[in-house]
Amino acid sequence: MQSELTGKVALVTGASRGIGKAIAQRFAAEGASVVVSASRLGAHGELKGTLQQTVDEIMQSGGQAAAVACDLSDAAARADLVERAGAPFGTIDILVNNAARAENNMPSAITSRSRNEMFDMNVNVPVELLQQALVGMRNKGQGWCLNISSRAAIQPEPPYPDSKLAAHVIGAYGASKAALNRYTQALADELVDESIFVNAMAPTSIVLTSAAEYVRKIAERRPDMVEPVEMMAEAALVLCSGKHVGRVVFSRNIVHESGRKVHSLDGKRVIGDAFAPGL
Ligand SMILES: NC(=O)c1ccc[n+]([C@@H]2O[C@H](COP(=O)([O-])OP(=O)(O)OC[C@H]3O[C@@H](n4cnc5c(N)ncnc54)[C@H](OP(=O)(O)O)[C@@H]3O)[C@@H](O)[C@H]2O)c1
Repeated sequence: MQSELTGKVALVTGASRGIGKAIAQRFAAEGASVVVSASRLGAHGELKGTLQQTVDEIMQSGGQAAAVACDLSDAAARADLVERAGAPFGTIDILVNNAARAENNMPSAITSRSRNEMFDMNVNVPVELLQQALVGMRNKGQGWCLNISSRAAIQPEPPYPDSKLAAHVIGAYGASKAALNRYTQALADELVDESIFVNAMAPTSIVLTSAAEYVRKIAERRPDMVEPVEMMAEAALVLCSGKHVGRVVFSRNIVHESGRKVHSLDGKRVIGDAFAPGL
């Protein structure tokens, strides 16, 4: 049976665990050949999640996947990532810029070095990877790029949720994601006439990955503030298979707007609507 991404090749960064892994699994379930990337391959049996585990799980479910290790914080190492990612299955049709760096500290206290590293990972890397992928996308006459953003890009209105401190410690990280959102819109506008569709999407609330471990206590008190990783995976599918362009959206909203159901990561089960209670 023809699935939505049959014949497409996707590169997903930060796919050894968390949201990136879920997107890779969901895309593979829709027939994409998926190249997953993270800073290292990792050994079987590691607790935190490794690239090799992502590949193994996708293949066990009948999908196609390959891993390319790359430390994206290293400008020289990332310079040929898209070329290397094209080796297993061919030209990249879909690029998901998911890997990111977050340092939680007061905006006035964060060091120049940390700020530079965050803006490098969260702005320069997604733009550079798209620049690399553009060559192949232009040859094919179409392409998709999805940048994973954050609600932290928007400063919450006072009164601040939980505490003022919580709203401010994510400020510098949020500023980098706000820059990513703006750059996404600029690229989208520039590239749409070439049928290259660039969008950004943030989780509507908290996805309990290893990166979000520090907010697990808030999640226990406020389960309504947690969203399943399947929501992000479904939303990514919406934005990487259609003709949306220049959107900077939250996951639940785009799933709702599309009228889709949220599926399990293997694509086999419907687990609910975008705003279903408990999802
Ligand atoms: N979880 C949430 O609630 C939440 C909320 C808002 C936004 N987001 C955004 O969602 C995205 C994914 O977050 P997540 O929670 O899934 O994170 P996560 O579980 O910590 O996973 C991060 C991924 O990025 C990879 N990575 C980190 N540094 C890297 C580097 N230097 N080079 C290459 N790969 C690197 C990690 O692999 P290795 O460590 O093996 O390299 C891992 O695969 C990020 O863009 C984040 O800003 C998440």
